[in-house]
Amino acid sequence: MKILVIQGSPRSKGNTAAVLESVLAPARAAGHSIESVDVCQLDLHGCRECFACQEVPDDPGCSQDDALTPVIDRIRLADLVVWAFPVFCWGWPAPVKCVIDRLYSVHKFNQNPYKVLIEGKKMALVVTAGGDEYDGADVCVMTYEKFVAFARCKSVGRFIAGNLSDPEATRRDEALAKRARKFGASLLG
Ligand SMILES: Cc1cc2nc3c(=O)[nH]c(=O)nc-3n(C[C@H](O)[C@H](O)[C@H](O)COP(=O)(O)O)c2cc1C
Repeated sequence: MKILVIQGSPRSKGNTAAVLESVLAPARAAGHSIESVDVCQLDLHGCRECFACQEVPDDPGCSQDDALTPVIDRIRLADLVVWAFPVFCWGWPAPVKCVIDRLYSVHKFNQNPYKVLIEGKKMALVVTAGGDEYDGADVCVMTYEKFVAFARCKSVGRFIAGNLSDPEATRRDEALAKRARKFGASLLG
């Protein structure tokens, strides 16, 4: 299975990375292909709402050919897309939100029948948070569920790690790591 991680923390060794190490451990052990994109390191631009994508039936056809173009291609090729990011101000960090906004281009609203170029793709969510699940992680989950349903994809699971602070403490939290590995194993079924 080809797994693509959309990693949305600006900290490459932060809490999200720490939790991901455990989530991905079962997939690594089983020999699955894992690619990760640090979207905070990319020069991304928001959707311009030009609707040029709607004139192209079989490709994303976004009018902006930037760092997101290959990311959208990789999403299309992946068997499983794992969205992993910290809660930022009760929502998705801006670069990750930019990715889902620009994925508007895979929806072909003018086609009859209407189609979505990533229909049926498996997706999973990993959210880390400083607060508990009602301090914004809940809002992130709601956006994820709406996005997955709208894109006609299939959610295979979601994982929330709350009350985190120091990434080194997160790495030492064996109970969290065990829960994360169990979640990671469940994604492979
Ligand atoms: C700008 C900013 C906004 C944040 N907003 C929230 C929030 O709304 N709710 C919450 O629970 N945690 C919030 N946090 C805490 C982070 O989600 C938490 O520390 C996370 O685990 C950081 O992950 P990282 O180290 O992978 O970046 C915020 C942190 C930052 C830097």
